[in-house]
Amino acid sequence: MENIIINMNGEIFTNQDAKISVLDRGFLYGDSVYEVIRTYNGIPFLLDDHLKRLWHSASKIGLHIDLTPEQITQEINKTLAELEDENAYIRVVITRGEGPITLDPTTSEKNNVVVIVKPLPENPKQWYEKGVSVIIANVLRVDRLAVDPNIKSGNYLNNIMAVREAKNQGAFDAIMLNNEGYVTEGSTHNIWMIKNNTVFTPPLKAGILEGITRKAVLLLASQNKIAVEQRNITPDELINADEAFLTATTKEIVPITEIDNSYVKDGRPGHLTRKLMVIYKNYIKQLTSF
Ligand code: PDD
Repeated sequence: MENIIINMNGEIFTNQDAKISVLDRGFLYGDSVYEVIRTYNGIPFLLDDHLKRLWHSASKIGLHIDLTPEQITQEINKTLAELEDENAYIRVVITRGEGPITLDPTTSEKNNVVVIVKPLPENPKQWYEKGVSVIIANVLRVDRLAVDPNIKSGNYLNNIMAVREAKNQGAFDAIMLNNEGYVTEGSTHNIWMIKNNTVFTPPLKAGILEGITRKAVLLLASQNKIAVEQRNITPDELINADEAFLTATTKEIVPITEIDNSYVKDGRPGHLTRKLMVIYKNYIKQLTSF
């Protein structure tokens, strides 16, 4: 059985025995917010950014978080203390809680707060050395004016449908477009392309999550004098880019070398992507060595 530690409203379970009510609104409606954080050397990476985003997501859907950021941090640390591994995956889920079966969000009284912690094994080297293949999904990203993708909620059905398409076609992941036909993001990643030595990524108004890795890469690129621009990207531009890559907390920077069965340039991770991978690794080292 996977070594998994679950903190359920402050109580620690050292296996999958933690249970939640079927009347929980997270279960019934995806009425919850969450964050995925990771540790390096046992320390949660960029935790403040993740907690800020958790509160941002909650406020956007009017979900009151009963705990303070300090209390959530304590719960995370308490859960992590049960795990020996230096590199851990942390998932914090806060639901609007339990109540009668009705959509009315005013009917639940208190959150359910769950912290899931498990070892985070190293990702396959091949992702970084050879790159991954993605498809452009038929399913569109939920519109920003419907459920803003910049809310990290428990409602991931849209992304699951995109992953279904990817898996049906044997791809690593799927990129979703918005209803204007522009690139948004992957199922759990932000998307980037490089053309003529400039790095491009879709703007928030395309309808994306403001990734914490994305924020770091934007900053690191400009600090390292790499031209970087947030602007709309068409799928054609992406397929014809010089280089492409994705970013996410647990994956860092992963080169994309194939899109819809055609290679990006020569089908190998490009030089600027590899440079950014090194810069990002150094940034991690800087922030995690004392
Ligand atoms: N996913 N876009 C979406 C839709 C995401 O769910 C995520 C994160 C990202 C990248 O954000 P960040 O760099 O902050 O991890 C972009 C997490 C990792 C997950 O659900 O597992």
